[in-house]
This record gives sequence, C-alpha cells and structure tokens, in this order.
Amino acid sequence: MGDQYEVSEAGVEALTIPALRWQEPPEGPVVVLLDQTRLPVEEVELVCTDVPALVQAIRTLAVRGAPLLGIAGAYGVALAAVRGFDVEEAAEALAQARPTAVNLGWGVRRAAAAYRAAAAGGPDAQAAAALAEARAVHDEDIEASARMAAHGLELLGELLPGGGHRILTHCNSGALVSGGEGTALAVALAAHRAGELRRLWVDETRPLLQGARLTAYEAARTGMAYTVLPDGAAGSLFAGGEVDAVLIGADRIAADGSVANKVGSYPLAVLARYHHVPFVVVAPTSTVDLETEEGSDIEVEQRPGHEVTEFSLPYAQGPGAEAGTGIPVAPLGAQAYNPAFDVTPAELVTAIVTEAGVVSPVTRNGLAEVCSTSRWS
Ligand code: MRU
Repeated sequence: MGDQYEVSEAGVEALTIPALRWQEPPEGPVVVLLDQTRLPVEEVELVCTDVPALVQAIRTLAVRGAPLLGIAGAYGVALAAVRGFDVEEAAEALAQARPTAVNLGWGVRRAAAAYRAAAAGGPDAQAAAALAEARAVHDEDIEASARMAAHGLELLGELLPGGGHRILTHCNSGALVSGGEGTALAVALAAHRAGELRRLWVDETRPLLQGARLTAYEAARTGMAYTVLPDGAAGSLFAGGEVDAVLIGADRIAADGSVANKVGSYPLAVLARYHHVPFVVVAPTSTVDLETEEGSDIEVEQRPGHEVTEFSLPYAQGPGAEAGTGIPVAPLGAQAYNPAFDVTPAELVTAIVTEAGVVSPVTRNGLAEVCSTSRWS
C-alpha cells in the first residue's frame, strides 16, 4: 500500500476530493477525472479530450456513482459543443453509456436542452449555454449534498436518539460520487462531525470493491472510525446487535419508491427489517425517476462475468481490465451472474432523504410531493 493511503490516520475533517473538473484553455477544454479504478493506491488523473474517452471512462467505472454520472454527462455534452463535435450524437452516446443511474441521462438532457435553446445565437452561444448548464448541474449537486447531510443528520437524531451510531453502508456514496460530500456518506460524515458516529461499517461491495477501495479511502481521510467487512459478514453483525442503521445511496428510485442501488443493497434491507434496524436511502431528487412506475421497470445493468470469475484489481493490472487478465478464481468457462444493481421495494425502506426533504413512510404520493418542491421539478 502506497504513501497516499497512509493519510488514513491523519484525521482530516473536510472530504474534498476533486472527482471531476472542467479544465479551461490553454490546457483545455477537457474533462479531468480522478481515475477511480486506480484508488486507493494511486491518485491518477484521466484527461478526456473527447466524448468517446469520457464514455469509455464511464463504462470502465473510472467515473461512477449516480450524481457524478449526471455531472459527467452534462460536461460531456459541453465538451462536444465547445470542441465542435456532433452534440446530438455525443448526447446519445453519453446517455447510453450505462443504463441504471438515471442521473446520467438527466445531466445529458439538461446540457443538451440548453445547447438547443441557444440555437439562435450560433455555435459559440450554444457551447457557452451547454457549459453554463453543466456548471449549474455541478453547483446544484454541491448544494444538494449539503442539504441531504443536514436532513439526514436530523433524521438520524429522531430514529436513534442518544448518538453513538454504528452505521452500515454499501458501495460508495461520498465525495467520489458528487460535487460535494456525497449522499449517504455525507450523512455519516455529518454524524461524525457532530460526535455521534461510533463506527462506520463498510461493506467491501463485491465484485468491484467500491466499498473497500473507495468508501474506506474516503472514510480514512475524514478520521472516522471505520471497519471494512466482506458483504456476507453483514448478517452476523446484525445478529450481534452491532448495526444501528443502514445508510445507502441510490442509482434510480422509481415512482413507487423502489430503490435501485449497488447489488447487495436488497439483502441488507431484508436483514435490516428482520432485525428492526432503520434502512435509510439518501439520494437527490435527480435520482428519482417518476416516469419509471415500478421497481421491476428499472433496467439493471448486467456486467461481464469475468468481474466475478477473476480477481482483477485495475490498479495492479491497468485500467479497464479485460477478461483473461485477472487471477482466475473459478474454473475456466464457469458461468457468472453479475448484475451491477438490485432493487429494494419501498416497503423495506424506512426513509428516503433528499435535498428537498425526507420521505417517510415511503409512498408514491410522498415521493411525488418532495420532487414537486425540488428546484429541478
Ligand atoms: O456501479 P457504480 O459504482 O457506479 O454504483 C454506484 C452505486 O451503486 C452507488 O451506491 C450509487 O450511485 C449511489 S451514490 C450516490
């Protein structure tokens, strides 16, 4: 483990990780990403000079997590516009790069709509409009993140009076997925700052280890007490009374309140219900898709089987590892089931925390109402 990781003991409070930035000329215009496939060992920047490079970065999870995908999609449209590429083609390619996180298409549509609306002013005005909209998407996410943290902290106080929270989280939902401090992790961080977080339990999150590699990297930088566990160990933690609440993010929330999030979230919701532990989802209203009626309508991304049948750590083997380049952990030719997400029904969700307020109990009407009060409705 390199020096970068030693920062874990430093007790740094602010979680400011530049996961994505727009670089102006003369070096730019480019979209610069912190390559998340290389964390936690190396902090390597990935410079996207065109849309195909950004699409590839999205597919390989160099940039990932619902809110950040929205920001990336919007800047991708701006990149195409500023550099004079075909914006409609770019928007299509970006929106289709991954299917489940609704924020990606949402960010793309916002920047593309601003581009089209400026048509009368000519190409320069259109490019400026697309870039301004991408910046607005980015800034709004920073604000949304802070609001979710405040609402979530208040909710934790109501659900778990007395502090000393032991919170279990899955996948990654901090500054690496956001312009701000994230979604679920931003709430845990607020609890930490308030002196109310006893421990953050971090599911490693098989098979791509977003928990072990990324959430632990974030938690370490904030000085939180955290422990990484194999996903399958969560059950015994619940059984031992070691979990006070589950906090996760979301990639898409259907109109009925069903929540798509990283595969392994649904089993946690079932465990939480069995053990009478609150299961709280933290997501901006841009992750709520009122046009998707039910959870079963959400398209769940299926990823290549070799991510399961081989151990392949990108930071050891190069980014975007291909089949056959990892260490085999299953017999050659083994079939694999590798959905990237699962869907948790609303009845198992205690509350959905958004920037516009908290929905609890989670109902179709409650969700529609909170979305109608959001600035993006
Ligand atoms: O496949 P990923 O790494 O993009 O999945 C990300 C998640 O599932 C996160 O939990 C989700 O985007 C919520 S983060 C706000």
